[in-house]
Amino acid sequence: MFGRRGNDGGNRGTPEFRAPTPAQFSAPAGDSLVLDEQVPATRSEPSVPVSPAARTRTVETPPLAPEPRRMPRERSESYYDTKSQVFSALIDTIDLSQLAKLEPDSAREEIRDIVNDIIAIKNFAMSIAEQEELLEDICNDVLGYGPLEPLLARDDIADIMVNGAKQVFIEVNGKVEQTGIRFRDNQQLLNISQRIVSQVGRRVDESSPICDARLPDGSRVNVIVPPLAIDGTALTIRKFKKDKLTLDQLVRFGAISPEGAEVLKIIGRVRCNVVISGGTGSGKTTLLNCLTNYIDRDERIITCEDSAELQLQQPHVLRLETRPPNLEGEGEITMRDLVRNCLRMRPERIVVGEVRGPEVFDLLQAMNTGHDGSMGTIHANSPRECLNRIESMIAMGGFQLPQKTVREIVVGSVDIIIQAARLRDGSRRITHVTEVIGMEGDVVITQDLILYDLKGEDAQGRLIGNHVSTGIARPAFWDRARYYGEEQRLANALEAMEKQS
Ligand SMILES: Nc1ncnc2c1ncn2[C@@H]1O[C@H](COP(=O)(O)OP(=O)(O)OP(=O)(O)O)[C@@H](O)[C@H]1O
Ligand SMILES: [Mg+2]
Repeated sequence: MFGRRGNDGGNRGTPEFRAPTPAQFSAPAGDSLVLDEQVPATRSEPSVPVSPAARTRTVETPPLAPEPRRMPRERSESYYDTKSQVFSALIDTIDLSQLAKLEPDSAREEIRDIVNDIIAIKNFAMSIAEQEELLEDICNDVLGYGPLEPLLARDDIADIMVNGAKQVFIEVNGKVEQTGIRFRDNQQLLNISQRIVSQVGRRVDESSPICDARLPDGSRVNVIVPPLAIDGTALTIRKFKKDKLTLDQLVRFGAISPEGAEVLKIIGRVRCNVVISGGTGSGKTTLLNCLTNYIDRDERIITCEDSAELQLQQPHVLRLETRPPNLEGEGEITMRDLVRNCLRMRPERIVVGEVRGPEVFDLLQAMNTGHDGSMGTIHANSPRECLNRIESMIAMGGFQLPQKTVREIVVGSVDIIIQAARLRDGSRRITHVTEVIGMEGDVVITQDLILYDLKGEDAQGRLIGNHVSTGIARPAFWDRARYYGEEQRLANALEAMEKQS
């Protein structure tokens, strides 16, 4: 059509905050407190033609019950050599700017025709299956995200981590594994990274070497290029799950017990102020999304995120997203700007995707000034550490407040801390549901309601444990539950949990 066919040219806090929890409050905490220490600090952390593969992502499969792998097999040097020769011939033959004007399906057909011709003319010996694989691969390179396409098409992958052209790791079922996928060279990787970020009007190169972006399907992307990334462009993708996990699914995976989930549902409904704490990729955002399902449908909810990941089901939701500075370093809108602005938008609940700086102060203020039921996530490895982090984030924001005042604000704002963790067998679990109940002198007092009790490990190396009640029959949020008519349900859930323990 427009080609010249036939041309065969070739992230711990201040220790003084650590207070002994009164004995009556921390009943069988033994194992789970050890667990805190065992959980490793985890691994530290639009519309251009998209290939059909990218648009036809399949419905998710529960992470602990993965679908059969469609992983491309390890390819030989000669495969890459042939591909590179065919690719050069293709580039010489077609006019890429014309190709870009076609519908993706027609463009794909066009490329397939030309590549088939090239293979015939150059007389490459390959089976039909190999030829098909090469065709798909080249179409992905020209039209989509190249070697990333087969990974993007899988819904059982949580993260894709590209460390330069020759190493691609993925996270499946909580475990990180290397794939046989490679990029032709650093330039190809850089081009694909560039294509991704340009879709959201950003640029990544030597002068602007760090960039956050999003794929059209909502996946969160970070790119950092040389010279900052010493061994070649590093691309990290948190895959977006179209069908977010629900609390009931988390129960099936063992992330929380059925009775524990019931308590969480009540916490979500009765407008407790909740902080979800956890390491990188421990499932914080997933949990936050689950909890928001139990917010009443008539509440006005405002979400603030760096990269919109939450999928609230209520009819009255307003979503806000931060903005990085432009190339001149101007125009940045921070999380703090969003949270402060939120307060002028008559929110009933404020949900902050990830609290990592001084916006914590504004969120706490919102929590204790009539916006109860607000929620956010914080990077920390235990509820106690989470409190320390809040305190240090406030200090970093330059607020000149005495420590005791800061702690009083925290106690007056946060009702519940839910701790998420990715354990060493790759499973993600809720390890604590902890209440912040008051001050004793200068010390914040907490009480655990639910703990994950780690018992050992089975023959396959999977950790065995269960969620246990600490025996608290009347949590501090009891009155709140009663106000919302949920006290009987809460009492039943706590009693059932107590019997299980
Ligand atoms: N209980 C669970 N069982 C199995 N998979 C889970 C569970 N919770 C979350 N996941 C999956 O783990 C991945 C990471 O989850 P999520 O994005 O919620 O983590 P996060 O703590 O918010 O990460 P980050 O710190 O990078 O923001 C997602 O793919 C999610 O679907
Ligand atoms: Mg998150």
